[in-house]
Amino acid sequence: MRVVAVAGAKGGVGKTALAVNLAMLSSRAGNRTLLWDLDPQAAATHCYRLKAKVKGGAPRLLGGKRDLETYIRKTDYKKLHVIPSDKTFRAAEMVLSTRRWPEKAIRKLVRPLAGSYDVVIMDCPPGLGVVAEAVVTASDLLVVPVIPAPLSIRSLDQLSDFVEEHRDGLPTLAVLSMVDRRKVLHRQMIESVKGDRRFALSVVPLSSSVERMGLEQVPAVIASPQNLSAKSFRQLWGEIEDRLDL
Ligand SMILES: Nc1ncnc2c1ncn2[C@@H]1O[C@H](COP(=O)(O)OP(=O)(O)O)[C@@H](O)[C@H]1O
Ligand SMILES: [Mg+2]
Repeated sequence: MRVVAVAGAKGGVGKTALAVNLAMLSSRAGNRTLLWDLDPQAAATHCYRLKAKVKGGAPRLLGGKRDLETYIRKTDYKKLHVIPSDKTFRAAEMVLSTRRWPEKAIRKLVRPLAGSYDVVIMDCPPGLGVVAEAVVTASDLLVVPVIPAPLSIRSLDQLSDFVEEHRDGLPTLAVLSMVDRRKVLHRQMIESVKGDRRFALSVVPLSSSVERMGLEQVPAVIASPQNLSAKSFRQLWGEIEDRLDL
């Protein structure tokens, strides 16, 4: 089992869009895949037409008293299951903080699933707090969408420091996200990260097919497979497969 976290300090940068599509591509590649929604906005849950309702909420799920397995839901797609989130996950930081070993809590929850899934993808809330610590502790790869703006590179440096502190050596893959090639600055950013080994070769374009996921509740790679964004998600999944030795 490989655990991939889509995470980072910032919100609104395309984490959920990535997590939803990568999970679909993983399952289509034949991997038994689990998408774990940890964000109180529950957008990944919504994209897979599931109800944003967790029995007992974050306190019970993250409290670790019940097997994670009991929260798993089937989707409309083969080999793809989801653990939904709901608004109680707003308190996730607090809930984890009350545990004895907060940073180990998520790893402890996913470990028993090793025989049932090949790939687990976590869609994380923004932030570099206790939840992020627990996420990096549990992960084999961190995928970090970065919007093409000079300040985003700074925030990626901060994330690298965070990883070094909490999980030194964890492979991290930054991905330029919501790229509009009509913009000079965006083209410059693509050039400037070439050769920066932290970055994926694939770049996710700004695309209305990704925006429509919220409305149609179908992952972009399924709804518009010919679209440029779908192509970039497939390329990115290929890069991730390589990094994970899948
Ligand atoms: N590549 C993209 N092209 C166009 N819109 C996007 C793209 N990626 C994300 N969005 C839109 O931007 C908003 C934030 O994306 P989301 O994936 O929810 O970010 P995050 O999970 O980092 O908060 C959503 O409305 C989403 O539909
Ligand atoms: Mg999100």
